[in-house]
Parts: sequence; C-alpha cells; structure tokens
Amino acid sequence: MNVTISDAVKYIGVDDTTIDLFESQYVVPEGVSYNSYVILDEKVALMDTVDKRGMEEWEKNLMAALDGRKVDYLVVQHLEPDHAGSIARLVELFPEVTLVGNAKTFQMMPQFFDFDLEGRTKVVAEGDTLSLGEHTLTFVMAPMVHWPEVMVSYESKEKILFSADGFGKFGALSLTEEDDWACEARRYYFNIVGKYGAPVQTLLKKAAGLDIAMICPLHGPILKEDLGYYIDKYNTWSSYAPEDKGILIAYASIHGNTGAAAEKLGDILRDKGAEKVVVSDLAREDMAEVIEDAFRYDRMIVCGASYDGGVFPCMQDFLHHLQAKAYQKRKVGILENGSWAPTAARTMKGLLENMKGVEIVEPVVTIKSTLKEEDLPALEKLAEAML
Ligand code: FEO
Repeated sequence: MNVTISDAVKYIGVDDTTIDLFESQYVVPEGVSYNSYVILDEKVALMDTVDKRGMEEWEKNLMAALDGRKVDYLVVQHLEPDHAGSIARLVELFPEVTLVGNAKTFQMMPQFFDFDLEGRTKVVAEGDTLSLGEHTLTFVMAPMVHWPEVMVSYESKEKILFSADGFGKFGALSLTEEDDWACEARRYYFNIVGKYGAPVQTLLKKAAGLDIAMICPLHGPILKEDLGYYIDKYNTWSSYAPEDKGILIAYASIHGNTGAAAEKLGDILRDKGAEKVVVSDLAREDMAEVIEDAFRYDRMIVCGASYDGGVFPCMQDFLHHLQAKAYQKRKVGILENGSWAPTAARTMKGLLENMKGVEIVEPVVTIKSTLKEEDLPALEKLAEAML
C-alpha cells in the first residue's frame, strides 16, 4: 500500500486481509493494517514494527525506504505482538540498532524476546527528546492506552503525533480508502481500549498542548485533515458520554419468541417517536458491533430468555463484556422471557447493577413463552419510560 506522509517520513506498514480474527476475537471483514513508519534524517528512526504475519512484506518496504541506509533507532511505542512481532527480525537485520522505550517497555520486552538487551536500549521518560537531525521526537507516556508500557511520540518539525493504538481503526488501508472513519474506529475503540477511558482522557489532555498537523496511528489511516473531528470523537468515547440519542435493543432469543418481543418493542418505540432504535440479535450478530452500539447510544433495552436458572448465554456474555469495558451512565430497560420459572430479569439486573451509574428503568417486563395481546400494555409502559 502506497501511503504518502512526507519526504522524510515514510509509511512501511502492511495490510492483513487474510486474518480470521483480530486478537483471536474480532471479525475484521476488511482486514486490518499494521502501521510502521521510518523517519529518514541524519539518524534513521523506525516507529514500531508489525505483526509477524506481515513481517516479510514489511521488511521489503523497510529496505526500499532505507535505500541502503541502516536503522539507528527503533522506537517501541507498544509491545503488543501486532506491533512488536518483528522486533527480533529488526535486531537480526541491524544488530547495532538502539531500542527506544520506557522502563516498563524494557521490563516487559524479555518476556517476548530472548535477544540480549545489554547495550541496546535507550530508556526514555515523559517529555524526553531524541534528536534525529532536523527531526526531534518527544516522548509522551500513555500508560494503559491499551497496555502499561504504551507511549506516543511527537515529531516537532512536521508536527506529527505517532499515536500508538490511539486513533486506530480496523480495516486494511487498501480496502477502506473510501470508508467512513468513525464506524470501524468506534468498534475498535470500545472493544479494545474501551475499559481505559481515564488514561485516554489523560493522554488527550497532554495532546491538547501539542500543535498537531497529522496523526499516525498503528492501525488504520493516517489522519491529516479536520483533526478536531477525531479528537472530539475520542473525547466523547473516553468520557463514556453517549455519542447519539437512541435506543439499542439487544436480545438473546432461543427460538425467536424473545426476538419477536424485542422487534415489537422496537416498533412501539419508533411509533412513539424515538430518535433512533437499533434491534440486535446477540446470538447471530457481531457482538463487538453491538457493544459499540451500547456505548454509542444513551439508552439500551436488554431482552433475554431464561436459561439454566439464569439468562441465555449470549446475553450473559454481552453483559459481561459491557461490564469489562466499563459500560456506565446509561438508562437500561429489561424484558425477560420464561416458560416456567423466569430467571433472566433477575440475572440481567444483577449484572447491570454492578455497572457504574446504570439506571434500571421500570417496569421490568416479563412474558411467558410468546408475546401475547395482554403483554402489550406492559411493553407500552416500558417504551414510555424509556422515552
Ligand atoms: Fe494494536 Fe494494543 O495493539
């Protein structure tokens, strides 16, 4: 993929269009990119490597960009294998390279690699700089903007923020040039970084003091224009504020009857003028997409079938994910289905009550096996309470 940054800063990342599941859990129908950059100055600095799945192609890109020069520094902003997977190969290619990271980076690095770090490391801390000639990198620590060793780097000549996982997005660059950024960036953010809103807020505050002309993340497109748009989105997402007014109805249905009740509830809400209603089948749809919608909208209704004295597993899984991702500050309605002893509402409520600032909306609705005419007033009441 040919991506232009500037005369001195080259993109040498790779697209992965054959990966089945990113992090062994997220479907990526349009693949993913592992971004890596090289800065050519008096000294040559490489900004991260790539997943070993893309190592061969990356090495070709690197050698073409270097055009016979050698790498002086490898800046390791994040040690997760989707970026650090080719570090050992780089050290093999350039045994004299200096690895630049923070104390945590080098504490963790031997867990992944067995090459000798002795004499090869430059430890940096908040605000430290590295001069490459005309280009100067300033390091900004970003612990838990995914992992504890994460840092970002600001290059002051070209005003580039190398943002690690921040501002990343699913999608291979070659397949997503025309795509809307927010859709897959949001799914990426909430599922991967979502738990770490406070560290992201801290990083945004630090970034506000920098004059940024371009953001170079480790996944997804390089952001060059209208940076305020992306920073605003990150500010909203990391503060757990809803992005849009709307109601997600997420259902877990065994034979379709709970699903039919969820669809009916959706129709009632639309008839009553709800701004936006999204109905999602947790058993069949991409859970990561539904999690994204849960954070996107200001309200949610969970509809679950009773199962094994609890709730149908995909709902349990969904609520567990939401809790892990720090879902909070939302109004939530509950509908349960049960054929003999309904247990879904109690189970869902128990999970929701552990989430900060989640307000359970009354009435909690119970249906028995199938939705009947006599259930409709309760659905109407729940719909009114949600609006
Ligand atoms: Fe893209 Fe946290 O690694």
